[in-house]
Amino acid sequence: MSLQVRSNVSLKHYNTFGIDVDAKLFAEAHSDEDVRQALAYAAQLPIPLLVIGGGSNLLLTGDVQALVLRMASRGIHVLSDDGARVIVEAEAGEPWHPFVQWSLEHGLSGLENLSLIPGTVGAAPMQNIGAYGVEIKDVFSGLTALDRQTGELREFDLEACAFGYRDSLFKREPGRWLILRVRFALDRVAHLHLDYGPVRQRLTEQGIEQPSPRDVSQAICSIRREKLPDPAELGNAGSFFKNPVIAATLAAEIKLKYPGLVAYPQADGQIKLAAGWLIEQAGWKGHRDGDAGVHRLQALVLVNYGNATGGQLQALAQRIQADIVERFGVHLEMEPNLY
Ligand code: EPU
Repeated sequence: MSLQVRSNVSLKHYNTFGIDVDAKLFAEAHSDEDVRQALAYAAQLPIPLLVIGGGSNLLLTGDVQALVLRMASRGIHVLSDDGARVIVEAEAGEPWHPFVQWSLEHGLSGLENLSLIPGTVGAAPMQNIGAYGVEIKDVFSGLTALDRQTGELREFDLEACAFGYRDSLFKREPGRWLILRVRFALDRVAHLHLDYGPVRQRLTEQGIEQPSPRDVSQAICSIRREKLPDPAELGNAGSFFKNPVIAATLAAEIKLKYPGLVAYPQADGQIKLAAGWLIEQAGWKGHRDGDAGVHRLQALVLVNYGNATGGQLQALAQRIQADIVERFGVHLEMEPNLY
């Protein structure tokens, strides 16, 4: 067997919160064959298989009694190019931001708004990653996944993935699909999305009137670096809560009491609220319980100041959830997967 399985491996460097727990067993998959070997091996174990990518959407609350398989397959290929639209396929283990940069260096547009998101290509469809008005579903062409129940490969088109806000079929059927490679439909002629939040303003401040996709990427990197902590310096998993989508009647009630409520009407008549705004209003921004804290610049991000445990971060998250229910009558759903 080419797969190398090790025992009692620290996961500190494999989760962006930097939580120091051990995996009972740990292996890295560099190929489809490694994945198949890991599945066959795990089937004989009394413990489950936990597949991870960049570990950027994960909260580990204790030692992991599982075979942890880190997807480490690499490779980026152009599958077709008609001069306008280019289909690019990337292996699951490709780190996300370098892949975005690769696309920009090759004159391709579509991924620029998704710059600097931590994690891997294979994990991106799981929660339909999104930022600054673009979600992966907007540039998605297809993916290949392994059905862990049957061992068969399956191709998914856009519709089959059933993408929603930070949601997909893969998230709704946890443990079933193992994403091996993802295909993106990128453009040689850019169709830029500049209307979300501060993007256009940032470009104007820089004196850029006719931005290229690379300009947009750089502007978004600078906006993100100002507000979002770099996991290499301060452990975090990006947004810790999803922005809640609530009934318009409840939003109207809250607005009576809090006229500054940040609310975005949705196509279906519901209202999406900015969870960061709610948490900040409730006074949690910058709050710290030992080494578990709420980031001082972006209330939606929980941070590990050094030696926080997953349990401490979870306890802080639960206190915030209870407080937001009490003050606003709104439930905040956690974004990271707990393990
Ligand atoms: N806000 C506050 N206080 C805060 C944070 C935000 O009042 O502490 C307000 C802002 O002023 C703004 C509104 O909330 O009016 C929205 O803030 P922002 O545009 O920064 O976006 P977000 O809703 O906090 C979402 C995504 C981010 C993504 C940004 C930009 C979710 C859960 N989060 O955050 O995604 O980068 O939009 O598109 O949808 C992630 O998922 O890990 C992530 C970082």
